[in-house]
Amino acid sequence: MSIPLMPNESLPKVELISEIKRLRKEKNAVILAHYYQDPEIQDIADFVGDSLDLSRKAAATDADIIVFCGVRFMAEVAKIISPSKTVILPDMEAGCSLEDSCPPDEFIKFREKYPEHLCLTYINCSADIKAMSDIIVTSSNAEHILNQLPKDQKIMMAPDRHLGAYLSKKTGREMIFWPGSCIVHEQFSEKELIKLKASHPDAPVTAHPECPETILRHADHVGSTSSILKFVIENPAKKFLVATEPGIIHQMQKSAPDKKFIGAPGADGNCNCNQCPFMALNTLEKLYKCLNTLQPEIKVDEITRIKALAPLNKMLEMSPSISSNKNPSAGRAF
Ligand code: 13P
Ligand code: SF4
Repeated sequence: MSIPLMPNESLPKVELISEIKRLRKEKNAVILAHYYQDPEIQDIADFVGDSLDLSRKAAATDADIIVFCGVRFMAEVAKIISPSKTVILPDMEAGCSLEDSCPPDEFIKFREKYPEHLCLTYINCSADIKAMSDIIVTSSNAEHILNQLPKDQKIMMAPDRHLGAYLSKKTGREMIFWPGSCIVHEQFSEKELIKLKASHPDAPVTAHPECPETILRHADHVGSTSSILKFVIENPAKKFLVATEPGIIHQMQKSAPDKKFIGAPGADGNCNCNQCPFMALNTLEKLYKCLNTLQPEIKVDEITRIKALAPLNKMLEMSPSISSNKNPSAGRAF
């Protein structure tokens, strides 16, 4: 039987962990976590991964309940792909600034303005925006998908203008961008990064493509969270500068304990401002409570779900095969 918790009452951490493990088994639940979650959530999850890995896991699981430790759009994707499962999120307020930057009533006008353009939409958006898109992409498959499209196909990309600009430069394709951005990745300071590089000249710089070009131009490797993790594991350097949310450093340290990882700084010279405030809303205690009550639950209305499923399925069909992802951390329970 679950331990009842009064409002404002909390269990000691060891009890929380053993209760989460017990409830997960009792309810046939799977805990999926993104790399930006707190280390203690990553450590209890059945699977830790990037947005694409987590979508694939949500599609493949035979669990009855998916506990999604990430942000709301990620949990929504799990529900769209696996509608028969109960999908819960520890904190329903865990949104995303990219999702917020792309309201459906404005996006519809943007689409109408460019009727000949194929709409490639970054997975960091609401189900309503997905429902208006042609193909969904993540930072780990966008380039691969783009390269499969005919050269004369006109393309629009939403909502992340930095990812769009990076892809346009990388593939040489012109695109029209929605002017959204991630508040976390925009905080990195080029000036501070240059100073940090000068203090650590032997440390390669890794960066997520949600960073502005002023940061990406200094990067030795640009990629999704899984790709950055793979890079630091395989690269022989002993020290790395990391320009993405610092939650990823937990898996880096676990996978390469002999290496050093330094978070890229924000304008004030420290990197605390680069923590995603939305991801941080999920805590071990909220994870316990949501497993206990199966609330809050993700709901997507059926018409939107079916419309949003088509571009998500396109993404899954056009993504690189799983075997080409050599990241030793992806697809493994920690
Ligand atoms: P990844 O798909 O690389 O994990 O990125 C998700 C995200 O929200 C980055 O801010
Ligand atoms: Fe959204 Fe940025 Fe947080 Fe990623 S880091 S979930 S893009 S706000």
